[in-house]
Amino acid sequence: MREKILELLDKGVFVSGEKIAQRLGVSRTAVWKQVKSLQELGYTIESVRNKGYRLIVRPDVLIPEEIKKGLNTRIIGREIRYFKTISSTNAYAKQLVEKNIQEGTIVVADVQTKGRGRKNRTWSSNYGGLWFSFVLYPHIPPERGMLVTMASSVAVAHAIKENTNLNPIIKWPNDLLIHNKKICGILTELDAEMDRINYSIVGIGLNVNNELDVDLKKIASSIYLETGIQIPRVRLLRSILTYFDEQYDALKSDNYEKIRNDWFTYANIIGKKIQVQTEKTTTTGTVSTIDDSGCLILETNQGSIRIVSGDVTYL
Ligand code: BTN
Repeated sequence: MREKILELLDKGVFVSGEKIAQRLGVSRTAVWKQVKSLQELGYTIESVRNKGYRLIVRPDVLIPEEIKKGLNTRIIGREIRYFKTISSTNAYAKQLVEKNIQEGTIVVADVQTKGRGRKNRTWSSNYGGLWFSFVLYPHIPPERGMLVTMASSVAVAHAIKENTNLNPIIKWPNDLLIHNKKICGILTELDAEMDRINYSIVGIGLNVNNELDVDLKKIASSIYLETGIQIPRVRLLRSILTYFDEQYDALKSDNYEKIRNDWFTYANIIGKKIQVQTEKTTTTGTVSTIDDSGCLILETNQGSIRIVSGDVTYL
């Protein structure tokens, strides 16, 4: 009902409570309750006796009604769960998988109290950033799992490019950098059998307008710090969902080459001398390519090595 009310109030002119109630087939009290809930979310809605309601300020809130406005995706964002505060959108998405939630559902929050990064690191998730997770059932072979993350980083990179004047770089395996500082991290968690992935939860953390701690600022940045502009998170998220829907379609139709090629347009790792740290080893070499499954092929003194995951340092 909130979606319809926002639609009716979108013109910025007064609309009477009675008219809204009639259009929606509900009581005026029901309309008033919804208006109140919108005001609580930060909408400035003027209410004048004998005139009705008028929308004055539409804030940047990540409620499904706002995200879905003009969204034309096939799978991604069919269902949207929004929280002001949550422990971790990935953890919640996992609970939804247990309840067989439909594919493409997204969980988004303003604040995470236990945001998680790769290797169990904490992920700082203050108000102003984009913290969200996709629920996916890709049913592709497990060795292609990296492509889900690659598809996500491409979608975020496309969306940043479309909405700002920034040129993001993808750092293997899944970070997005601007001027050598991290602005986005992706945590993909999956469940697989021998021959197929059952589900995959892709958690994306993108620093948009959020404040960063002084220490973090040495290695990380945000869209606001890089542009000086507070871009609406809703618009950026809608754009990410749109691009990811396209990438996911490619993944589902086994068009892995599209994802890999798009990924290469944002990556600058080929030919670079790097050091990769895995759980047990540190390897130095020159990157020759990223193979069909998204693994790093490194030319070292011991010959060619294939690396599935690790932390990269450019030398
Ligand atoms: C990394 O670079 O280490 C990955 C960071 C992933 C953070 C996101 S924020 C939304 C989702 N929920 C989490 O708890 N983590 C991911």
